[in-house]
Formats: sequence, structure tokens, C-alpha cells
Amino acid sequence: MVKVSPSILSADFSRLCDEIKFCEKGGADMLHLDIMDGHFVPNITFGPVVIKSIRKCTKLPFDAHLMIERPDKFVKDFVNAGSDIITVHREIKISIKNVLRKIHNYGAEAGIAINPETPFEKVKEHLEDVEYLLIMSVHPGFAGQSFIEDTLEKIKEARKYIDEEGLEVQIAVDGGVKHHNAKRIVDAGADILVAASAIFNGNVESNIKKMKAIK
Ligand code: DX5
Ligand code: ZN
Repeated sequence: MVKVSPSILSADFSRLCDEIKFCEKGGADMLHLDIMDGHFVPNITFGPVVIKSIRKCTKLPFDAHLMIERPDKFVKDFVNAGSDIITVHREIKISIKNVLRKIHNYGAEAGIAINPETPFEKVKEHLEDVEYLLIMSVHPGFAGQSFIEDTLEKIKEARKYIDEEGLEVQIAVDGGVKHHNAKRIVDAGADILVAASAIFNGNVESNIKKMKAIK
């Protein structure tokens, strides 16, 4: 069964704990936390303080998707706040290897994210060092954008490579994932669907159940 990772970016922030409880009831496998610094992407969201407070609401694993220029400076803070997985972007200007090592040294799992314009080729050398590959299917920065169809080919390419190499890397797909395209994304090889607007607009619990029912 496909895993679903709701991104709280489209949740009602005035009642985050309730929203998270609905996610649990719907059978969410983890929660996706979109962290933006206004530099790496043209938007600002939240940081470790918010993570620390929602950590009290649930035992679901937290994946902190860091869309920030200097994740190396904040790994410790995000882990201490309660993140189980820290996902960093291939496109950052600093050494990816060092950041991934740092994440593991602090006891968290590591993910590497790639933007739509970054070829899969560019992450291959890092796949030995991560537990997750996050394939972006929109340009990061905002929830509610449309899925970029070319991503399907990238997901297939990643699936094939990971299987052939026998790597223990789960493929997550993030951006524009909706009920109507989820099957195609899963068929292309995704293990985890990340979704914000498709889950938090309407009934959270049934939105997740419907997405998990996709075969
Ligand atoms: C985009 C974020 C995504 C976003 C997904 O920058 O990384 O996680 O919240 O939102 P939807 O599912 O609405 O496209
Ligand atoms: Zn995200």
C-alpha cells in the first residue's frame, strides 16, 4: 500500500493539533513539514519552534523538508525539535555529503530532494547515503500548484535505478499530488505521496483514506 505523508502547509495553523489528529485517523504514515527560508525559495514558513510544539500532538514520524540555503546550520535544531527525517535539497551550494553525514550523526534519517529542473543523474552518487529520495513535481515554494507531468519519467528512472542497484531508498513525490493523478504517480514507482492541498481542503480523514486506497 502506498504511504501518504500529509504536508501541513495547507492545514489550519490555528488548530494544528486537531488537523494532525485527523491525519492519524485517516492513516497517515508520516507528516511532511515544509520549511522555507525566503532565500532558497520565495516564501517563508515555520521552524523548529513550531515542530517542537506539534511534537506533543502525535507519534507520527516527522519529515522536515528543508527548503533553505544552509541546512547544515540547523540540522541539530530540527532534530532536537523532534524531526525523524531531515530532507535537504540537491541544489544547495554547500557540500551535500557533509550535511547528510551530519543528519545521520544526529540520529535522524536523511532524504535528498530534487527540483523539477534537476536531472535524476545528479542525485545518483548520493543515494547510498540516504533513506529517502524526494522528487519535486512542482517548483518548491507554495502549496496548491499543478503537477508537472514530466516528473513521471523521472520517477520511473529513479525506480528502475534504485531497484537495479538494490538500494534501500524510498521514493517520495511532492507537489500537485491529487486523487486524480495519484495512481499514475504510484504506477511510475512512488512509495510515498506527499500532499498538502489535496488533503487539507475538505475532510482530512477521508482524503487520506481515499489516497491510500489507490492501487
Ligand atoms: C512545495 C512543498 C510541498 C507542498 C505541496 O514547496 O514542498 O510539500 O506543500 O503542496 P500541494 O500538495 O498542495 O501541491
Ligand atoms: Zn515539501
